[in-house]
Amino acid sequence: MNKHLTEQSSSISNELRSSLNGYKSMVIWFTGLSGSGKSTLAQALERRLFDDKKIRSYVLDGDNLRLGLNQDLGFSAEDRKENMRRTGEMAKILVDAGVVAITSLISPFREERAAVRRLFAEDAFVEVFVSCSLEACETRDPKGLYRKARNNEIADFTGISSPYEEPTAADLVVPTDRLNVDESVSLILSYLVERGLLS
Ligand code: PPS
Repeated sequence: MNKHLTEQSSSISNELRSSLNGYKSMVIWFTGLSGSGKSTLAQALERRLFDDKKIRSYVLDGDNLRLGLNQDLGFSAEDRKENMRRTGEMAKILVDAGVVAITSLISPFREERAAVRRLFAEDAFVEVFVSCSLEACETRDPKGLYRKARNNEIADFTGISSPYEEPTAADLVVPTDRLNVDESVSLILSYLVERGLLS
């Protein structure tokens, strides 16, 4: 990092922005295997926050980011770590701007998830493990990627030829092989209310 840089602070604090908005911004960080339901849950949560709670949120989706900001990154361990780091920084900008950021990345590595968590205040980062067995994800195979990975048409595929480190201390576990989308989103909203992060 360049040592000739000086961080500039904003004249509007996060607390001031929150009081203007009427809610606290935060990041809801989904992690889970491909096909576990992260993107579906992220979209459904964004919708419920918008419709029911009148909260501004924005989904940072792995696929979408890789089509733009992260188009230089592949799926090596090093690139996935950089993907998580950049997305964490992007989420931080959104949270500072008063938006609820919902990230939907596989984010397979425990250490990098912990590093992202450290970017945020304790009550502004919620890690949600979208839990679904590899077998169930592979049976769903919504994009046909597991089939390709098994046929060696995709290298470094998460769960097959690249590791996924399950969270050991996620704030919330959502078992999408047992709950439907509405139930999963309700579970997340109830958790946020119970923790005093949403009203
Ligand atoms: S990561 O591990 O957090 O950097 O991955 P992410 O940015 O979320 O990107 C995952 C999506 O990329 C597609 N895809 C792959 N996933 C896993 N492994 C390999 N090799 C791979 N190649 C392409 C796939 O659509 C993932 O989306 P989801 O929604 O998870 O299925």
